[in-house]
Amino acid sequence: MRQSLVVLSLVTFVCHAGAPLYVSPQVSPTAASPRRVILDADPGIDDAIAILLAVRSPELEVEAVTVVAGNVTVDQGFENALRVLSLARRTDIPVARGSERPLRKTLVTATYWHGPNGLGGVELPRSAAALDRRHAVDLIIQLAHEHPHDLSIVATGPLTNLALAFRKAPSIRRELSEIIVMGGSTIGGNATAAAEFNFFVDPDAAQIVFSSGVPLTMVGLNATRQTLLTRQHVRDLAASGSCLGRFVAKLGEFQLRDDMTIGTPLHDPLALALAIDKTLATTTLPMHIEIDTRSGLTNGASIFNSALTRERIVREGDHLTDGGEEPELPNADVPTVIGSDRFLALLMARLSAAGDGC
Ligand code: BDR
Ligand code: CA
Repeated sequence: MRQSLVVLSLVTFVCHAGAPLYVSPQVSPTAASPRRVILDADPGIDDAIAILLAVRSPELEVEAVTVVAGNVTVDQGFENALRVLSLARRTDIPVARGSERPLRKTLVTATYWHGPNGLGGVELPRSAAALDRRHAVDLIIQLAHEHPHDLSIVATGPLTNLALAFRKAPSIRRELSEIIVMGGSTIGGNATAAAEFNFFVDPDAAQIVFSSGVPLTMVGLNATRQTLLTRQHVRDLAASGSCLGRFVAKLGEFQLRDDMTIGTPLHDPLALALAIDKTLATTTLPMHIEIDTRSGLTNGASIFNSALTRERIVREGDHLTDGGEEPELPNADVPTVIGSDRFLALLMARLSAAGDGC
């Protein structure tokens, strides 16, 4: 009898007593000891999932969650961050409220995608954590000074808090190890044809961050659209022995409610996962990126140069001409190919592991 061998991808699941049990792939942690991170976020469904992935990942030491206006108002995002951390029993992590509005533009929120409360209408119990009255900008500055060259930021919302921190304390630009930004795109936008949401909300802040000189990784839509949370993932999370998994299932159900596609992109969790293990991206290219801050059709677009050269334009009589190529220095690493099976296995394993006791 001919036997067929079905080779499943690295990352699938093994069946255990009828229930799928996801197995975490081997990770190659980016740092030898837990990597110290701040999550700067606008929670937001996928931000909430990123926060949960962070606290379930021993490769990371979460120093703080700083909140910015974006998907929801800053007050709502602050409340959501507190409640999500409380669900995960991590009320020890400081949560700081940050910027209420973008630097110049009127705030645009995203309550169609994230629900009026930012968590798809899922109501979590209030957190009992004592209120931290520090402003997000001040907490970012304080932690950068306390941990020079030993602090990374994973930014999953508009970059307003970071831009304000750079304005207030320019020296932190030399102290931060890296910023992993979920934002931008090399394949067009989602907020508009040209602009990704986080950069569209605050293009001025994004441009300040991209010209800061801090080592940057830009996790754009070109990468995040390779990582889809499908209905099957949602069913598996709902059936998991983890209350965090069951919460994430409800978030996923909301985002897939009237979606005809096979899944919903895991924008912010992918940015977070790259802080754990850079090799989850199998191809990463250096690029020079500027954000269009002018009003008009391309406002908020990430203009990228992957060739890293440009024409030098010189005068020739009464007109201009190309005077040869000159280099354009890269200011960001841009993951372009994601090992999405490995990433999804990591996410699913960490969010569906039983025994989180909540
Ligand atoms: C980004 O926009 C937000 O809606 C998501 O949370 C993510 O950070 C994707 O464009
Ligand atoms: Ca976000």
